[in-house]
Amino acid sequence: APRYPITLRINGQETRLEIEAWVSLLDLLREHLHLTGSKKGCDQGQCGACTVLVDGKRINSCLTLAVMQNGRDITTIEGLAEGDTLHPLQQAFIDHDAFQCGYCTPGQICSAVGLMNEGEARNADQVRELMSGNVCRCGAYPQIVGAVTQVMN
Ligand code: FES
Repeated sequence: APRYPITLRINGQETRLEIEAWVSLLDLLREHLHLTGSKKGCDQGQCGACTVLVDGKRINSCLTLAVMQNGRDITTIEGLAEGDTLHPLQQAFIDHDAFQCGYCTPGQICSAVGLMNEGEARNADQVRELMSGNVCRCGAYPQIVGAVTQVMN
């Protein structure tokens, strides 16, 4: 099968590779680059576990093809900390016990970073609504909303 050359900036590192046209961004990250922090829950855009940032905007990486992101800047959960210092949202999730099994957490945190970049959410209700695409089967929503709201304010 033909492969297409693409260049992505992934967590600050320029990455060149050749990839088949049908490979999703999520599969590229997980299976080709071994960045397994982004999770595959549904592979259909319904759970948000695969959320990453593309040029600072949150997207479901299972719903986009890697070749469509040629030239873009991708940030995954692996790229949020600075050295030993966690991103403030990562720290807030710990401080608020905002996870149980943790499967949805990378997507939740990337989504929250994107939400902050959007600058639309001002209170807990808005956080809840604007993060409704990130499903948590453990039901840790009160803690998640608490963590995100604290960092926003
Ligand atoms: Fe992408 Fe569920 S795995 S939204």
